[in-house]
Amino acid sequence: MGMSKNQGSTLQKRGQFTSSLGFILAAAGSAVGLGNLWKFPYIAGSSGGGVFLLFYLIFVCVLGLPILLTEMAIGRKTQISAVGAYKKLNKKWTFVGVLGVVCAFVILSYYSVIGGWVLKYIAGYATGGNFGADTKQYFDTFVSSPVEPVVWHLIFMLFCAVVVVGGVAKGIEKASKIMLPLLFLMIVVVAVRSATLPGGMEGLKFLFVPNFSALDSFEKVANAMVSAMGQVFFSLSLGMGITITYGSYLKRDTNLSKDAVVISGLDTVMALLSGIAIMPAVFAFGFKPQAGPGLIFATLPSVFSEMPLGGLFGLLFFILVFFAAATSAIALLEVVSAFLIDSFHWSRKKATILMSCLMGAIGAVASLSMGALSGVTIANMNIFDAMGYLTDKILMPLAALFMCIFVGHVWGIKPVVEEIELGSAGPFRLRWIFSMILKYIAPVLILVIFIMGLIPAK
Ligand code: PHE
Repeated sequence: MGMSKNQGSTLQKRGQFTSSLGFILAAAGSAVGLGNLWKFPYIAGSSGGGVFLLFYLIFVCVLGLPILLTEMAIGRKTQISAVGAYKKLNKKWTFVGVLGVVCAFVILSYYSVIGGWVLKYIAGYATGGNFGADTKQYFDTFVSSPVEPVVWHLIFMLFCAVVVVGGVAKGIEKASKIMLPLLFLMIVVVAVRSATLPGGMEGLKFLFVPNFSALDSFEKVANAMVSAMGQVFFSLSLGMGITITYGSYLKRDTNLSKDAVVISGLDTVMALLSGIAIMPAVFAFGFKPQAGPGLIFATLPSVFSEMPLGGLFGLLFFILVFFAAATSAIALLEVVSAFLIDSFHWSRKKATILMSCLMGAIGAVASLSMGALSGVTIANMNIFDAMGYLTDKILMPLAALFMCIFVGHVWGIKPVVEEIELGSAGPFRLRWIFSMILKYIAPVLILVIFIMGLIPAK
């Protein structure tokens, strides 16, 4: 294919972020989502609490930040979406971009199911906020029913499709500018309420004090590490070209390293706040931190019931969670669509509508795997959990691993550093450690943890 010609035609249709703040908010909008609010607390809960958090923070610095920065640089340099970017740099490595697109596709299929749960809780609060005496029971009944969660999931997917058909700047930028700061304020309020509940201290201890003595087997250590790495990739939207695509909409004069630090910092703070909002309540109300994907949905209604105007708070909170989820989902859909638009010249409308229908169908199966189809298992997991395993523990680490090898050993660190230095005032001071990480530390670390994750738990 004549890349230069194709690329030219694509560029004309390509929007650009009007400001650096616009980019940060949009990129943070893609990063901050259900991964922080829903996934972080439940993964932390089931993977060792404080020990998990320790690994998580280490991996954010050693893996998350450098990879995020590299993706931004690749995107801005090549000016096209993930697959096109790799193709342009080195044809043989196109598969890394494709891997990312596949990953985005699988993630969005189940992400949208959780988005549907959020919609259900908005509806629940809007109609009086009665979640019964046993909020866990309420959630379990809802999630295992055959029709309702599927319908909410499809509504969520439809919403995303409508925004993406509308185009980049218009749809995404506007929404994240208002919603993200509001969500931040809101979650601080909820975190304070939760942390001050009687018995809440136990939850904070669980989350922040690593209990190494509980790590009495290789499986537990491996689980904490593998989960932490997968969660870092998931939370920062890495390994699937999200940031490559966003970076391609960036102007040359933005300071990439500063933006990368701000984005990963915001994302981590949001995850921590969410943990502080959930974990104390889990202990205060006698839930189990290991409860799994339903953790926040069972816990939060109990927290809101302990707050003055709790019903109103609950409503507002879930509306903001919806927007956080939507901006992430939109980013995922954008990656899948941009791939089809840039590679096959599909129209934005055709790409988006076809893909949302397909993901809608797969998501429906994932949703049913928590009820009617719960008997269908893959490697002892239901379909929903298996999809999460596939993306977090296999596809994302592999994509990130290949990206590090490609940049570190094939394309070279030099062009990345040059791109990073373009918008900054001086030379990139962390150049040495940055290249050590990309070339050696990250690939080895990812590979080792990846293999640890493949060893079956006894
Ligand atoms: N990072 C998003 C979140 O935390 C999820 C996501 C993953 C979005 C991968 C895009 C790509 O919710």
